Amino acid sequence: MSNGIEFRNVSKRYGDDPAAPLAVKGISFEVPVGTLTTILGPSGCGKTTTLRMIAGLESPSSGTILMGGRDVTTLGPAERNVSMMFQSYALFPHMNVVDNVSYGLRMSGIKKPEAADRAREALRGVGLVGFDQRLPSELSGGQQQRVALARALVLEPDVLLFDEPLSNLDARLRREMRQEIRTLQQRLELTVAYVTHDQSEALAVSDQIIVMNQGEIAQRGTPEQLYASPESEFVAGFMGEALVFPGVAQPDGRVQLGPLTLTPRHAVPPGVVKVAVRPEAWQLGAAVGLSAQLRKSAYLGNFYEYVFDTVLGTVFVVSTDLSRPLPPGAQTTLALSSYGVSVVPATLA
Ligand SMILES: Nc1ncnc2c1ncn2[C@@H]1O[C@H](COP(=O)(O)OP(=O)(O)O)[C@@H](O)[C@H]1O
Ligand SMILES: [Mg+2]
Repeated sequence: MSNGIEFRNVSKRYGDDPAAPLAVKGISFEVPVGTLTTILGPSGCGKTTTLRMIAGLESPSSGTILMGGRDVTTLGPAERNVSMMFQSYALFPHMNVVDNVSYGLRMSGIKKPEAADRAREALRGVGLVGFDQRLPSELSGGQQQRVALARALVLEPDVLLFDEPLSNLDARLRREMRQEIRTLQQRLELTVAYVTHDQSEALAVSDQIIVMNQGEIAQRGTPEQLYASPESEFVAGFMGEALVFPGVAQPDGRVQLGPLTLTPRHAVPPGVVKVAVRPEAWQLGAAVGLSAQLRKSAYLGNFYEYVFDTVLGTVFVVSTDLSRPLPPGAQTTLALSSYGVSVVPATLA
């Protein structure tokens, strides 16, 4: 079984009105067995719809869904071995921790003592020991999260789905939990589809990222590919704080960006292009480059944020050189490193 999940040209339209817009527009992708794929994109782009079609909670209007090589397009949720963990973890408030986790097993006919044993095992797996008799209201947000995770894992699903599971947690807990989910996924070799709108979360946990925009896949690849080589302005902007400048591709393949000349990683046809630059791609104090005057700076502890005025307009720079901070109004020269600079077509926004 090479593919855990496979979508072939899947579209989804809600309701019966054929004139209604498609929520998902002919998307194709695979989630290989034992890997974690995130579906990343802004609100309303079709992430939850895609996840619910994997779960069998929505059926596609057209296209084919395979799981483990089997066509499951018309099968309901009970006929697919899939568990889903939602944004609100929806624990039963009147049931203690063990009963919450055993619930699914009990529903599938497993006797109470065995279900409780397996629930305690799952709770140990997510690092929640000693809370078996507590009610959800007696747990912290992070602990409730672990209960929800144990409840999904105890069913030993072929595929585990997460829909923005961390959005109710504070920033520190979010970082901690996302690492734990990743560690657990790798240890148990789970096949996971994980929805988020947070690019740093996607970068931190994924084998593969699928970026969606308005019901379509804008790009998919490894975190490194998406961050370092976005193929469109949308992906460049969504995957980080890139600023996008207009450039001109020359017949010799090089790209002119104001006074700067750069050689793109991928060949581009001559004409107008856009150049997306990460704030960490600028090198300060180069011998030749773009003249820049410092307008604003902020000290963030482990780096400086600088805002410069240049002939290209405002340029945002992140510098980890903490030993020589620039004074207000400083005049310097900016050059581009080879990393963090992407040339994207001007037409494909
Ligand atoms: N049950 C529904 N009925 C009608 N339209 C829906 C329904 N669920 C979602 N949509 C629409 O489908 C599009 C995609 O929604 P969704 O998949 O929830 O996006 P996301 O999870 O990326 O925020 C949105 O335009 C949304 O309004
Ligand atoms: Mg959603």
